[in-house]
Amino acid sequence: ILALVISAVIGYLLGGVNWAIILTRIVQRKDIRDQGSGNAGMTNVLRSVGKLPALLTFAGDFLKCVIAVLLSQLIMNWMFMNPDVLLSPDYAPTAELLRCARYAAGAACVVGHIFPVYYGFRGGKGIVAAAAMIALTDWRVFLAVIATFGLLFLWRKIISLASVTCAALYPVYTFLIVFLVDFQRWGRPVWYLLTAVGVSLFVGALVLIKHRANIGRLLRGEEKPIVGRK
Ligand code: G3P
Repeated sequence: ILALVISAVIGYLLGGVNWAIILTRIVQRKDIRDQGSGNAGMTNVLRSVGKLPALLTFAGDFLKCVIAVLLSQLIMNWMFMNPDVLLSPDYAPTAELLRCARYAAGAACVVGHIFPVYYGFRGGKGIVAAAAMIALTDWRVFLAVIATFGLLFLWRKIISLASVTCAALYPVYTFLIVFLVDFQRWGRPVWYLLTAVGVSLFVGALVLIKHRANIGRLLRGEEKPIVGRK
């Protein structure tokens, strides 16, 4: 539990490092949250600042989540191997526990990105951070999500449409894959299934709530396809 809490705290603090805000300040000396859609994320940087800053925002926001998840694995392994920290030093973390630490760090990173402690709790909508989290917690779910995103984006060129659809489908894909494959076929414990589905529901709901203005525009047919600035 302590390892999970430490992983989540580190994930949250790393998640708050918002590259859309940092890079826009460097390039334009402005706050990205006062421009375009007002969102501190890659899409708005592409719209309001330029292609290279958008690419760097993507890389930075993806990487912070990768680092958070990798640190969670180090912490978990270190705690279980350090006899001073745990009473039973022979006990090695199971694959499921390690995976849960990934979920804790990844989800906390998404929360940190959306509600950053360093920027008045006004961050982005969590799409890139969530993509990194999904890639590192379950690559099968990631493939399903990224294929959905790619097809929708190629069809309509509207990032928010692809984003909200993926956020809604993420828990569905997680349930189908973890239940049918991990739980039924490989006999993984029910608490692992509950963790995976619970976290995917939480992250999916959070991302959807942050996109409520986009959802309104999509329903009214007012959301515009993305056009890069430079
Ligand atoms: O990644 C956020 C995207 O789904 C929507 O961003 O700036 O169009 O509100 P934006």
